[in-house]
Amino acid sequence: MVTTAFHQAIEEGLTASSKYISSQFFYDDQGSRIFQDIMRMPEYYPTSCEFEILSFQALQIINKLDFSEPFNIVELGAGDGIKTLQLLRKLTELGAYFHYVPIDISAEAIQALEENMARELPSLSIKSLVGDYFTQMEVLAQSDIPCLFLFLGGNIGNYEAPQVDDLLSQFYEQMKPGDKLLTGFDLQKNPITIRRAYDDSQGITKAFNINLLHRINREMGGMFLPDQFDFYCDYNPKNGEVRSYLVSLKSQDVYIEDLERSFHFDQNELIWTELSRKYTFAEIEQLARKNGFRVVNHFLDCKHYFTDSLWVK
Ligand code: AVJ
Repeated sequence: MVTTAFHQAIEEGLTASSKYISSQFFYDDQGSRIFQDIMRMPEYYPTSCEFEILSFQALQIINKLDFSEPFNIVELGAGDGIKTLQLLRKLTELGAYFHYVPIDISAEAIQALEENMARELPSLSIKSLVGDYFTQMEVLAQSDIPCLFLFLGGNIGNYEAPQVDDLLSQFYEQMKPGDKLLTGFDLQKNPITIRRAYDDSQGITKAFNINLLHRINREMGGMFLPDQFDFYCDYNPKNGEVRSYLVSLKSQDVYIEDLERSFHFDQNELIWTELSRKYTFAEIEQLARKNGFRVVNHFLDCKHYFTDSLWVK
């Protein structure tokens, strides 16, 4: 038996006084497929908003870069790259000389992305990197080619305030003066719109959360009966936080073979799974400043639900 980071995180999270499983573990192959379904739900607006920004404002974004050529476009956590494709296509049409460098922890995701790009944009120069952001950013920091880093999709919303600062200061350290960072932030808006995006009527977000239990069963011999758990999420418009949970429907003990022990769940006990934070412009600007960046521009969708915010070091 191999003990993975996932094993350790489950042991730690299920013995804590308030149980939790980090949202980073949503994305095994099955979870990534469910996330694709989430992105196709009409209620889940961030995807179409960011797609709109990167399609219709590509030229405005490019004009703000002000880079000498060649330059790199480095995507952190690239996923399927469908939204990024819009920006890359525009750059290619304009005859810009650049390399696209997607970084992802999943080799499978990178391979799918490469196939996608080869089909959609055969002339694209692509140099994929498999691994964690920071190790791979360090490699890039060695060259003196200007870099635009992309951190899209609102992934920053998953981090608690101290971890956001940690992340941004690590990005900052790996960047050269003049390098730019384009980050997707989901904005605070009518709370009903936000709640609907997470508490969907088809239960797709529920399946996404329940998959964590299936994943424990698959990867470490867990004995979870997923029907004995439900999904709960709540948006607090006063602090911009969506928090998601699994709820134990009865008092139960669940054995996990690889951890050689069982875990007790009270009836209605929660396992916290995700923070999806929604931002105000004031918060975004403060975040930039605090971590040494200057805000170049906020690019918005027409409903002003989402922003891709461009910062310079
Ligand atoms: C991929 C982290 C941006 O928080 O909105 C979607 C993940 N979770 N529905 C988000 C997610 C539930 C998503 N991010």
